[in-house]
Amino acid sequence: MEFDDVLRRRRMIRQYDPDRSVPPEIIDKIVTHALRAPSAGFSQGWGFLVLTEPDDRARFWASTRDEDDPDIAWLARLSTAPLIVVALSNKSVYLDRYAEPDKGWTDRDEAHWPVPYWDVDTGFAALLMHLTAVNEGLGSCFIGLPAPTIPAFRAAFGVPAEFTPVGALTVGYRADDKRSPSLRRGHRPVDDVVHYGRWAGQGRKPKAEGGVPS
Ligand SMILES: Cc1cc2nc3c(=O)[nH]c(=O)nc-3n(C[C@H](O)[C@H](O)[C@H](O)COP(=O)(O)O)c2cc1C
Repeated sequence: MEFDDVLRRRRMIRQYDPDRSVPPEIIDKIVTHALRAPSAGFSQGWGFLVLTEPDDRARFWASTRDEDDPDIAWLARLSTAPLIVVALSNKSVYLDRYAEPDKGWTDRDEAHWPVPYWDVDTGFAALLMHLTAVNEGLGSCFIGLPAPTIPAFRAAFGVPAEFTPVGALTVGYRADDKRSPSLRRGHRPVDDVVHYGRWAGQGRKPKAEGGVPS
């Protein structure tokens, strides 16, 4: 698929054909593409938990169930996914990497970090997996894990304490899904979001050259 088409088609899909599993070679492609993501200091402090077996997937949904969420219908739709990839970040890998001589933050002080790059990088990796799924004609949806359920999730899958689940990608062949009510918000206008030259000024957008459409 053309890259522009992947981006045009990309959206979160929350219902799948439960009888059509994702072929192993596509699973391999999805997870290996995650490793192509950029990472601060090339730390690569991430980990991916791949769940394909029905028992494992059931354990995922049971351990991450938010008892305070009254709407289980959306979860029932999502749980038709034959593949779940949980993307986890490992902060300690970054603190170790940046304590190395070429970086020099030997105090391992988290105040050096403007934002948690371990989570940023894991998010980039999840996006690459999401786009790979679209490119392969699959649907996928990235979801967060409810904070109170994280200890139960870790226990259910033997996840070491230094790994934090950033989110889970459900993947499968698309079924007719229900559009999220959030989509009524629409995309924000480019001019509200993109600032040329300075934030609040009348900065100028670069002109397209040679007839390239703007
Ligand atoms: C960090 C993050 C967390 C999200 N968590 C959820 C979630 O828990 N449940 C859900 O249905 N969608 C979740 N989404 C998907 C968003 O709702 C979705 O991306 C947004 O509504 C825009 O829709 P689109 O991606 O289809 O364009 C999440 C997306 C991101 C980036």
